[in-house]
Formats: sequence, structure tokens, C-alpha cells
Amino acid sequence: MPVRHAHAKINLSLEVLGRREDGYHDLISVMQTVSLADELCVETSVDFNFHCNVAALDTRHNLVVRAAEHVLASHHPPTSCSLTLVKHIPDAAGLGGGSSDAAETLMALDQLWSLRLPDESLVAHAADLGSDVPFFLTGGTAVVEGRGERVVPLPDPPLAWYVLAKPMVGLSTARVFRALPREEHSRGDLTRSLADSIQAHRPVAFGTNALQETAFSLCPEARACHNALRELANGEAILSGSGPTSVGLFGGRESAAMAAELLRGRGYWAVYVHSVTRGEQTA
Ligand code: C5P
Repeated sequence: MPVRHAHAKINLSLEVLGRREDGYHDLISVMQTVSLADELCVETSVDFNFHCNVAALDTRHNLVVRAAEHVLASHHPPTSCSLTLVKHIPDAAGLGGGSSDAAETLMALDQLWSLRLPDESLVAHAADLGSDVPFFLTGGTAVVEGRGERVVPLPDPPLAWYVLAKPMVGLSTARVFRALPREEHSRGDLTRSLADSIQAHRPVAFGTNALQETAFSLCPEARACHNALRELANGEAILSGSGPTSVGLFGGRESAAMAAELLRGRGYWAVYVHSVTRGEQTA
């Protein structure tokens, strides 16, 4: 079976509308898949196997294993499966790596056993695995609402080049949401207006990220990294999700590559990527 790619996401905008009874938050975000991707290989086998090249993630708690368990338990396929995951997306980075791996696993197993699961069933499994997982069933550019389970695709904006940069530490999403003050809640207007602008085929820009200041207060290294990237990107930078990765928008591949190299020289993890459309993601 060919290697499949589980792409990272960035949040072009993210607003938190309010805290819910269940402890989660209602949000509105414009998400975008980018070329940085993990590699996933899925095959039929007699016994269940999972292997990941990163020792800390090579456990039965990996979302890939939990996604496979969902499919095995609910749809009783004729065999078991072997899953191999090669990580390129950093963990706890705000780039949705684990969520993307989980969504790719659901889609790969659906194909492997020709289950032809209806979209609602895939989305239900995805939402159960994590708030960001449903987005990755769609990918490309999309508006995401609710806890993350309502995904409305947007037309593909023109190809854009980005630099992703983070300090060499992770940041827990739950911690950032827990520390988020009420004053950071908003009505979603900036994010909706970005979505309208993408609908109108205008070039991509950043909206706002309600989690940014809270993430920076918990992780000062992320603020320093963000400021360094922002300077190189002429002010066009935003935190992705709950961080600590920041995203900078660049005019082309050359300037993005140069900025990423400079940031690596300063001790940050940094890569340059381009936007990936829905069609490319599933290719
Ligand atoms: O859904 P997931 O397990 O990825 O979420 C991680 C944590 O982020 C949750 O435990 C919750 O604290 C927070 N979260 C939230 N509202 C969302 C998504 C995540 O409060 N919409």
C-alpha cells in the first residue's frame, strides 16, 4: 500500500466565542492544510501492529491506535491491520499533527477494507477522537465551528508560502484553554470577514488568534520566537492554534526558505511550507 500523507494545519484566524457546559469552548476558525506532513502506511495483517519512529509516541495511546480501535470495534472488518507512522510534524505544537494522523487513519482503513463509511460516521469517529480531527477529513481551506466538528470548505486561495517556527518546547492545548481569560472571548466577526474575503477569491491574510496572548504568557520562548519571525515576515505573523508554533506569511519560496534558515540559526525549529488544497491532500 502506498505511503499516505497526513498534513499539518495552520489557523489563519481563531476566535473563541465562549465556554461550554462540557468544559470545551465554542470557536470559529479558518484552517488551512500545509505541505509539512507525517507519513502513514497501512496494511492488512492477522494481528494488530503499530509502530512510530518517535519513541515517546510509539504507544497504544497514540491517536492513530485509538482511531484504528474505533474502526475495528464498530465495523468488524475481515482482518486486522499494521500501521506505521513516520513523524515530521512536531508534537504539542499547535499544528494538529496527532489529529491529522488520526483522520488519515480513519480514511485509510475505510479504503483498506472498502467499508465505504458514510461521511456522518467518519465525522462522528473523528469528533470523538479530538476537536481538530474532523477538519482533516476535509482539509484544504475551511471554516471550522462548534467544538471543531462543523467544517465548511472554502474555495482554494492562491498558493501561499509560510514559515512555521517554534521554540524547542511543546505547549498543552488544555493548559492554554484553561488559562484563557473571558476578555479574550469575541463574536467571531474578524474570522467571518476573513472567510468572506477567501470566498471572494482575495489573497490570503491573517485574522486574529484569541489564544495568542495566553499562550505567550505561559510560554515566553514562544513570544520571542514569534517576534523574530514577525520581523522577518514584515509584520505578517500569527500563532497557530494554541501554539507554541507561529506562522509567518512570505511572498515566495526563496524569502520563506531564507527566513527559516535564519530562525534555525537562532536555535528555533523552523521550516518553510506552502498551502495544500483539498485535492492535493487526498492525491
Ligand atoms: O479535543 P482535544 O482533546 O484535542 O482538546 C484538547 C483540550 O483543548 C481539551 O481538553 C480542552 O481543554 C481544550 N479545547 C477546548 N475547546 C475546544 C477544543 C479544545 O476547550 N473547542
